[in-house]
Order: sequence, then structure tokens, then C-alpha cells
Amino acid sequence: MATIDLHQKPFDDATITKLEIFENYAKEWLPTFIMSYPNKDLWIFDFFAGTGYDIVGAPGSPIRILYQIKDQVGNIFKQKTRIRVCFNEFDKSKFECLKASTENFITNNSELERLRNNNLLSIEYRNSDFAELFPKTTSTIQNHPSLLYLDQNGMKFLADNYLLTLAQLPTTDFLYYLSSSYFVRFGDTIPFKTNLKIDMERLKENPYKYIHTKAS
Ligand SMILES: C[S@@+](CC[C@H](N)C(=O)[O-])C[C@H]1O[C@@H](n2cnc3c(N)ncnc32)[C@H](O)[C@@H]1O
Repeated sequence: MATIDLHQKPFDDATITKLEIFENYAKEWLPTFIMSYPNKDLWIFDFFAGTGYDIVGAPGSPIRILYQIKDQVGNIFKQKTRIRVCFNEFDKSKFECLKASTENFITNNSELERLRNNNLLSIEYRNSDFAELFPKTTSTIQNHPSLLYLDQNGMKFLADNYLLTLAQLPTTDFLYYLSSSYFVRFGDTIPFKTNLKIDMERLKENPYKYIHTKAS
């Protein structure tokens, strides 16, 4: 299945909206869990992290996560909550950009450096296929409050074994993105039918441009 490479051109409005939704979620999630879990580890997993920025410098999910951690520096020091972040990106050259851009951001933000020097922030970089990495992370996710961001291109990992595992974990929040246009384009295919129960007849009653209002 063909996928669009988001990092070859500036993020479009839909991508920015998606990133803002995630960032707003992180903005609420972080203080809630920092205040509830003093002296504990909180984990944030960005499993499909991309490069850090788009080609004109608009921040992607990893930088947005770091912005929100920076906003919580006071609470983190007060509560001694340790923030553990895992940035994963499968593509080797994107992974190198990701590492450079996030490390550069931390270096230029002394509050984040201070957190890291006090072991209140750590970043784990992974250059792995999500399918291989996910099973290795489940015990961490099970044992610590975690926020997961699954921003895949396409729908390859829309499978019950991921969603059911995650839905059963009491202190795990996850955001799972799937473009609504995929419903019309691929809704009749086997991978889609086996993962989502969608009434394709009803969906196709209206013009394609209204798909985002019908797919939910
Ligand atoms: C929709 S983009 C993510 C964008 C990112 N959240 C951002 O804000 O820039 C999906 C990313 O996942 C990566 N990717 C694709 N398949 C992957 C896999 N199996 N495991 C990990 N990363 C993968 C792609 O290279 C791409 O950078």
C-alpha cells in the first residue's frame, strides 16, 4: 500500500491540526500524572516520531512533546517525577534527523538540560520497526503510567493485538491516528474489514469530501 511521506514537504493544515490535538492532550496529561505520581517514572512513547520538524521548521510530535515537558519543569522538580521519553523512527536518515533535532532542542533549552542532569528527564532513541519494538515495550507500559502516540502512515498497525493490549492497561493513554480518507479508499479490503467494523454502503452515500464527518 502506497503511503505519503509527510516530511518531504511542509505539514499541511490537517497534519498541523492532528499534531495540535496530540500536543493539547500531552499538555493536560503531563501535569495530571506528574502531580499524581511523585518520585515515579512516567513514560511517553512516540512510536512513529518522524524527523522532529517538517522541511520548513514546523515542529512535529517529538518537539511538541519536549515543549510540553519544558512547560512542566517546575512541577517535575517539585514532585521529582521522572519523565522517560522513547522516540522511535524506522527510517535511518529520518532517525538521524530526529536525534539531531531533539538533542539540539534540549541543548538550547537549559531547563530541559537541567532536568536531564538531575535524572528527571531521559530520552531513549530507537531506530526500530514498530512491530518489533512494541512487544519489547509492553512490560514498561504495563508497569508505568504511559502516554503513547501512534502516528503511522497508512493502517498497517491497526490490529486488534495492539489496540486490545493497550485498551486493557489502566494507566495507559494512547492516541492512534488513521486518515478518514482511508475508509473510502481501502474500506473494502481485507486488512480494513478485519480490523474495523464500518458500514461501507452508508459511507458511500455521501460525496467523498464529507468522509471525515461520516467515518467516526
Ligand atoms: C505520519 S509520520 C509521523 C509524523 C510525526 N509524528 C511528526 O510529527 O513528524 C509516520 C512516520 O513513521 C515512520 N514509520 C513508518 N513505518 C514505520 C514502522 N514500521 N516503525 C516505525 N516507524 C515507521 C515513517 O518513516 C514516518 O516518519
